[in-house]
Amino acid sequence: MTTYITTPIYYVNAQPHLGHAYTTIVADTYSRFRRLCDAPVRFQTGTDEHGEKIVEAAEKEGATPKEYVDRISAMFRETWPVLDVKPDRCIRTTDPDHIATVQRILSEVHERGDIYFSKYTGLYCRGCERYLTEKELVNGCCPDHKVPPVEIAEENYFFRMSKYQQQLIDHIKTHPDFITPERYRNEVLSFLSEPLEDLCISRPKSRLTWGIELPFDEKFVTYVWFDALINYLTGIGYPDGEHFDEYWSVAEHLIAKDILKPHAIYWPTMILSMGLPLYKKLHVHGFWNVDDTKMSKSLGNVVRPRELAAEYGVDTLRYFILRDMSFGLDSSFNAELITTRYNSDLANDLGNLFSRALAMVKKYRNGVVPQPGEPGELEAGLADAAAIMLGKYRREMNGFRFHRALADVWAFVALANKYIVACEPWTLAKDEASATRLDTVLYSILESLRLLTLVLQPVMPGAAAKMGAALNVQEGDLASLDSAGNWGGLVAGTVLVELPNLFPRLAAEKQEQPAGKKKKGGKEKKQQADRADDAFVTFEDFKKIDLRVAEIISAEPIEGSDRLLRLQVRAPEERTIIAGIAEHYRVEDLPGKEVIIVANLKPAKLMGVMSEGMVLAAKEKGDGGDRLLLSSVDGKITPGSGVA
Ligand code: ME8
Ligand code: MG
Repeated sequence: MTTYITTPIYYVNAQPHLGHAYTTIVADTYSRFRRLCDAPVRFQTGTDEHGEKIVEAAEKEGATPKEYVDRISAMFRETWPVLDVKPDRCIRTTDPDHIATVQRILSEVHERGDIYFSKYTGLYCRGCERYLTEKELVNGCCPDHKVPPVEIAEENYFFRMSKYQQQLIDHIKTHPDFITPERYRNEVLSFLSEPLEDLCISRPKSRLTWGIELPFDEKFVTYVWFDALINYLTGIGYPDGEHFDEYWSVAEHLIAKDILKPHAIYWPTMILSMGLPLYKKLHVHGFWNVDDTKMSKSLGNVVRPRELAAEYGVDTLRYFILRDMSFGLDSSFNAELITTRYNSDLANDLGNLFSRALAMVKKYRNGVVPQPGEPGELEAGLADAAAIMLGKYRREMNGFRFHRALADVWAFVALANKYIVACEPWTLAKDEASATRLDTVLYSILESLRLLTLVLQPVMPGAAAKMGAALNVQEGDLASLDSAGNWGGLVAGTVLVELPNLFPRLAAEKQEQPAGKKKKGGKEKKQQADRADDAFVTFEDFKKIDLRVAEIISAEPIEGSDRLLRLQVRAPEERTIIAGIAEHYRVEDLPGKEVIIVANLKPAKLMGVMSEGMVLAAKEKGDGGDRLLLSSVDGKITPGSGVA
């Protein structure tokens, strides 16, 4: 069956972080999985580029909204290939076809009589870009943005959302899979148990011009959510695109819990007003925190997926986030967790299984897949376990329970490792009479690896490609669970290809020994050569250090420290850097200065604050104390410029 999967379109007022990466990697994994089930798949992500927040963010940078959205949306688009994410379209709400579609739908809904003009006084939260009801407030403040909303009275256009309330309730009640996991379905039903208000869908141009003009009143632009949600239709060619009906009839939206209400209430009522069938499913996941704290720019603990991919490898990142988050619940990220997962599941369980197997086949059978003899009880057990694993994997992946699918796969990895121990191929190899038995055992291990490669493709495309190459299985022979998922697919006589190292223990070494202390225990001569080499860094090494010009935006003391200042810098994105310069600079003298920073220094917590880089400074030792001068460049230059 055809699959159409979408992610939210992300606001370009922030740069891609772990949360965006998670949703998009989930969608990518799911689309790869569905292709493996022989389904035609369309996968869409994109950026949400209109609205007040965007205008504000652009102003802060001294850019026009258009310049600004072009720049940040490109950062999203450029992040996906780095994460091995391959969408069919990265839609932008500033795309001409989207603007036309929004205006067309507004006209249709207006003609139907579902849009009216009215005066409204309400409590408006700029962070949410929507009116809040009294009931939503906590101590008079927006529960998400912790600031009191402002009272705004203006004339606007409204969408008759309330008209479709009962129809929506009925649909949710008769379609238990419409919103999953169930807790979110319950949340929506409980919200719908109170009467819905109509939705304000315009903003007067006197207040906001960066938006899509209403086709029936040029003095207004469209409210961002009414604009943004329609992307899911634009991207598949509403209303008469070639594949529109095929894709729309199976549409699945993937979001986090923060935007449940717009997707579970605004969007379905809009669709009902358009006279379209409702989308098929809404999959809602939880939030990633960092060290059990909410990720936020002001806390300076924002995790950047590209940095994680560079440090741990993209396959490790993908595996980790899918394995460690129970879909639907919140999860906490920290460097230790990802390292532990890497060491135990990837380097140890899977990596060892692979390298052991290949080494044995090389040693005992010249690297050629042997013809197996009659399977014994253990082989039959292994083949059964593989079939059971494949069945569970399919079910869990289809149900968006990726953590469980991977747990099932790893149970099979463990079984394959146990099988090796139980069969003792090294003992069989000593006795010529056991040659056939050894063939059977080696074949069974390799065949297990082939099936593991098959199922791991959606999660770790890079690693799976390497595994497939090592087994010398053509990519096309691993393209379908149906045709490749049966035991016995590996062809005897295939010549294996040597695999350098599937999961090099890089992260593991880093954790066990501080960098630079790796070379202990070698031979005397080797050590001397190393020492001579240690006096230099290669140009390659130097290039790894990302030196940039950063402009200091603000500086403030850190409570409890006489030495440290907390700097907000622009390089060109905003980040927090903790610098030990408090004894040398006054806080008020720092804003506006341009300094040189190490932009890719591993983020570290200092006095409870996450520092994302290091400011370079010159230090002169003296009797009366040290002198310290911040580094800078010979004149004004754009923040973010590279230094080399
Ligand atoms: O809401 N953990 O855009 P947005 C997990 N433009 N996922 C997270 C996350 C976290 N800590 N933070 C963000 C918008 N996400 C609108 C959407 S759709 C028609 C318009 C992910 O940039 C998650 O998918 O605030 C969440 O729903 C989305 O980013 C919100 O992205
Ligand atoms: Mg948001």
